[in-house]
Amino acid sequence: MDRLDFAIKLARRVGFYLLQHWGNALNVREKSSFQDIVSDCDKQAQQMIVSEIERYFPHEAILAEEDRFETGQKLWIVDPIDGTMNFVHGLPSFAVGIAYSEFGDVLIGVVHDPVLNETFYAVKGEGAYRNGEKISVSTNATLRESIGNVGFYVGFTGHFVNAIEKRVRRMRMMGSAVLAASYVACGRFDFFVARRANPWDVAPVLLIVPEAGGCVTDLDGKQANLSSGAYLFSNGKVHSEVLEIINKVKGSER
Ligand code: IPD
Ligand code: CA
Ligand code: CA
Repeated sequence: MDRLDFAIKLARRVGFYLLQHWGNALNVREKSSFQDIVSDCDKQAQQMIVSEIERYFPHEAILAEEDRFETGQKLWIVDPIDGTMNFVHGLPSFAVGIAYSEFGDVLIGVVHDPVLNETFYAVKGEGAYRNGEKISVSTNATLRESIGNVGFYVGFTGHFVNAIEKRVRRMRMMGSAVLAASYVACGRFDFFVARRANPWDVAPVLLIVPEAGGCVTDLDGKQANLSSGAYLFSNGKVHSEVLEIINKVKGSER
């Protein structure tokens, strides 16, 4: 079984299921706080993914957002819906994220957006693709001509936007980490800052962005890995300029 083919087909099947419930999610409730929600669609989508991995790769471990926290040398990392808030509110920009890693190194990454029917994917060393076409990051070399995205994180986002707004062409807050970073990979965004991210929020794009010629580090500029917790994805050219601004606002967090 080809792992990439398996993950793409699975992400697309789950995406089709999600479209049936988009804006009409089942049993929506608060999770860790009023700003964090989950629905039965998240659980069902995860179950669809997990059961297929168990069927075809029974000896491999699974780390998935909705209460499946295994570790292993061969590890699948799954976010059944990245952007649950958008999904529940009937907004576009949510995605299914599936990655496969060995010894902490992501070897396969798949991000599927069912609304636009776009699948972003990469295999280590083989470039990054969207629906079969090779993608690459933008060539913008300065913030003045850049459009960036930042994840919502109380105590950081406002300060960061405040610090960067006069130096960048435009900022966006898209609401799905894997999709925002995939947009860096294909040149729609020039950078994306995730102040707080779990491994499943970033696993596929830790591979897709570098394979598209981009750059990903933690917020200190050090090499990123699955447990860095905070990330800057960029086209590489504006990376240091954005890092410098992030570092100025770091101290103002709650
Ligand atoms: C969230 C999204 C969001 C990011 C949050 C994540 P979820 O994932 O990626 O863009 O700002 O930090 O938790 O909860 O929708 O899977
Ligand atoms: Ca997520
Ligand atoms: Ca999720």
